[in-house]
Amino acid sequence: MGDYAGKTAVVTGAASGIGLALAERFVEEQMHVVLADIEEQALNAAVTKLQERQGRVIGVLTNTMVQESVQNLADRAISEFGNVHVLCNNAGVASTGGAGKKIWQVPAADWDWVMGVNFYGVLYGLQAFLPHMIDHGESGNVVNTASLAGLMPGGGTYGVSKHGVLALTETLYNDLVDMDANICASVLCPGFVDTNIVEAERNRPAELAVEKKGVDATTAAIAKGLLAQGKAPAEIADTVFNAMQAGQLYILPHPAWDDFVRSRVDHVLARQGPAHLDMEEMLRRRSAGEQF
Ligand SMILES: NC(=O)c1ccc[n+]([C@@H]2O[C@H](COP(=O)([O-])OP(=O)(O)OC[C@H]3O[C@@H](n4cnc5c(N)ncnc54)[C@H](O)[C@@H]3O)[C@@H](O)[C@H]2O)c1
Repeated sequence: MGDYAGKTAVVTGAASGIGLALAERFVEEQMHVVLADIEEQALNAAVTKLQERQGRVIGVLTNTMVQESVQNLADRAISEFGNVHVLCNNAGVASTGGAGKKIWQVPAADWDWVMGVNFYGVLYGLQAFLPHMIDHGESGNVVNTASLAGLMPGGGTYGVSKHGVLALTETLYNDLVDMDANICASVLCPGFVDTNIVEAERNRPAELAVEKKGVDATTAAIAKGLLAQGKAPAEIADTVFNAMQAGQLYILPHPAWDDFVRSRVDHVLARQGPAHLDMEEMLRRRSAGEQF
């Protein structure tokens, strides 16, 4: 897209983790930035911090599960800064509600929450912003945050939602190419990143509460440990920005996972059961210095 200075970016899930790092990166590029998040206090703190660096930053309290809320975000962004050029549909949650349950036992409320934020939140973002971004005709980027879980076998509610985001973005990419739009679609598929996602239950709406069996202590400790040792959000934001400039569809910031992705495809083509994710092997490789 060339020079991003003076252009406008909207980032959902911008009060924490990867979204906050993306917003910071865009501020560094002298862009106008709209931070959207459901967590009011964290959002205000993030906006204040970024406004100290430059004034062209606003926050919009948004629940990406709710279509009207995402439309309101688009309306606010456009009325504040005019044309929007970069849309990062990044807000996401990981649920512990399915822990200890078979997939058919996962409560409807859990599906509603995870699919609502991770999949429908992204879809609502496209529906609210794409007509505007196409109409104004200036170059732009859409970056949808999926996960490596979108390229791996299974993964429960989270994996299903992220496979959905991947397919949605591939379809979007083709649609934009077909119509010769000046907008590039990308899908971000990180491995572990040191963020607050392990505390995602903090944002579960009260009406979607589920009775939990709880995650067993060992699994919880491994997940927490792998996240804490994951890449820094700022590094992911740099990778995303470079990929945006290069017009890259697939953004895979963790090459240590390439073998797992390859093995998934091998299993599919061999008409076998799904490839198995060996956590102990991962931890061994992690101790040897690879970043997952
Ligand atoms: N951290 C990782 O290891 C990792 C790996 C792969 C993909 N991801 C994805 O990265 C994205 C960002 O997550 P993160 O790791 O930075 O976690 P995070 O919890 O630090 O940040 C997520 C942000 O989304 C916000 N949010 C949650 N529900 C929302 C809603 N309904 N509406 C608006 N905002 C909402 C939260 O308040 C939070 O600020 C997610 O889509 C996640 O699935 C994370």
